[in-house]
This record gives sequence, structure tokens and C-alpha cells, in this order.
Amino acid sequence: MKSDLKTRIRLLESDFDSALAEASDLQALEQIRIRFLGRKGLLAGLFGILGSLEGDEKRASGHLLNTLKDKMNTVFSEKARSLDMQSHGESFFDHSLPGNIGYIGRLHPLTTLLREIKSCFQSMGFIVAQGPEIETEYYNFDALNIARGHPARDMQDTLFIDEEQEIVLRTHTSPVQVHVMENQPPPVRIIAPGRCYRRDTPDATHSPVFHQIEGLYVDEGVSFADLKGTILTFAQRLLGSDIKIRFRPSFFPFTEPSAEYDFSCLICRGRGCRVCKQSGWVEISGAGMVNPAVFDYVGYDPERYTGFAFGMGVERIAMLIYGIPDIRMFYENDVRLLKQF
Ligand code: DAH
Repeated sequence: MKSDLKTRIRLLESDFDSALAEASDLQALEQIRIRFLGRKGLLAGLFGILGSLEGDEKRASGHLLNTLKDKMNTVFSEKARSLDMQSHGESFFDHSLPGNIGYIGRLHPLTTLLREIKSCFQSMGFIVAQGPEIETEYYNFDALNIARGHPARDMQDTLFIDEEQEIVLRTHTSPVQVHVMENQPPPVRIIAPGRCYRRDTPDATHSPVFHQIEGLYVDEGVSFADLKGTILTFAQRLLGSDIKIRFRPSFFPFTEPSAEYDFSCLICRGRGCRVCKQSGWVEISGAGMVNPAVFDYVGYDPERYTGFAFGMGVERIAMLIYGIPDIRMFYENDVRLLKQF
């Protein structure tokens, strides 16, 4: 009986293979399914015989039969798929396959941070302004009181589109100040986020393209205290109420007096760590009171109006908040980084 069943198993397998090989359409295939795999089919018949066996014999033949059953089912579905594919051409779609689970897109960390910064300032009444990335030297330098021959205009830093025509890629967002003031009378309360360009060799902290956010507030009676209050409110809204700010005297041609401002270290909260080099402070950017010379360029009355301006490097803040050690990582679009946000 045992050898008999084994023989019949082998026979069934070869009969099934040749029947499948001959099947040329889905109807023929369905006949084969009924004959071999159906509830009363040949395979079921052999399982019936298995029921009358016992012990080792039953176990061994059972194993053989189950293996055969799996194989028949697999071969059968492959054949079914290929016949179906032939009959439907390209449009074949197997509804039984699990779907492809694609990546769900997410926001780039710079986009997220930019949006957060914008909303902090918008909640203080600032309006988002924009200016061109291709600028004339007039807007990028002259009207900001950056004299010809000033080191900031050096070929080292500035990317020229056309040197004779004095057309450059803006090296900072400050020229947006000039555009805005040329186009509207005071009061002005804007922030201007956008891309800037400099002739830098990329390394961990430099990129030839980067983002800044410019701020400008002009009205009667605006003071340095307003600048400090605005920066402090911003810092605490973005980073939490325990953040402190600090201003250090500095120089920028378009502000007078000028300062550089720091936040208490975003990582150690001022206690001292590697990121802030144990100082407890991290440098953010420059700020100051708008230089009356700039008001002269845009036709504002410097006797009547005062204003403050500030800059901000978006990548710099993002690197600090997210602990990203290399600025180039923002532009490589490596999903291993992007998936973490
Ligand atoms: N434009 C400056 C830069 O690119 C940053 C800056 C400094 C902007 C002082 C300002 C300011 O508005 O008042 O480095």
C-alpha cells in the first residue's frame, strides 16, 4: 500500500505537469483545477487513501502529499498568472498581491523650521515679504551703505551673473529691506525669508546656497529696546520660555548701532557643552538700528522715523535645534536623514 501510494503520488505529479504544459487558455486551466485540485479531484483522492494508513507510513506519505500539494498550487497559480497576462496583455493586475507600501513624503527640516519661524513673527504682526535672488549691486550693496571697496563686495564672496552690468546673486536677504521701503511708506514690519548665495567652498559649515531671514521694523519711535523685545519674544516662542538672548556690539554698514546676537545654547540650555564650546551661548546673526544713510537711499525721513533690522541664518538654527553636524546634509536628500523628520 505504501509503495502504491508513493507511485501514485509520483504519477499524479507528472500527469499534472503535462496537463498544465498543454493548457493553452483559462478554460482548459479551470478543467485541470477541477480534475486535479478540486474537492473531489485526484489530489483529494490520494489524501483519502492517506486516511487509511497508519504510523510511520502515514507520516512519510503525508509529508510527500503535502509537499506535492504545495507545489501543485504554486505551479498552478504561476501558470494561471501567465495565461491571464497573455490574455490581458499589459493590463494584467493581480488583485491578490499585497500592495506596494511607498514612502510617505514629509517636510524637509528646513521647510518645517522656516514655517515655524514665519509663524512666530506673523503672530507679532510681521508680514512676509519677498525679493529677487538675482540682484543688482545697488540693492545688494550700495543702498545698504556697503561702500565700493568694502570687503563684503569682494569677488571672493559674491557670485556675479554679469560683472559689467553689476548683476549678482544676492549674498544676503538685506536687499529686500530696500525693495520694501522703496515701495511703501512707513510703518513697515516685515520678515523676508529666502535663498542667498556666496562663493564659498562647501564644507561642514559653508554652503554656496543657504537661507536667511531678514527682519525690518520701521515706524516713529522704534528703539533698540523694541529690537531686543522682538528677538526675545521670537526666541522664546520658537524654542521655549527658558531661552535667553544676548547682544554684543558689532558693525554692519546698514545698521548703527549694530550688534551680533546670541541665544543661550539650544542643546545644553546655557549650562555649557561641546556645541557652545562650554560658553553657554550660540551666535545667531547680526542686528541693529537702521542706518539713516539707508533711509536716505529709499526716501524715508531719518528725522522722523527709526527702525531696527536683523538677520538670521536658517541652516545654522536648524543644525543647532536638530543636532545636524554638517550643513551639506540639508541638500543631499539622503532619505536616511529625511526619514528622521
Ligand atoms: N545681512 C547680514 C549678513 O548677511 C546679516 C544682518 C546683520 C542683517 C545685521 C541685518 C542686520 O538686518 O541688521 O550677514
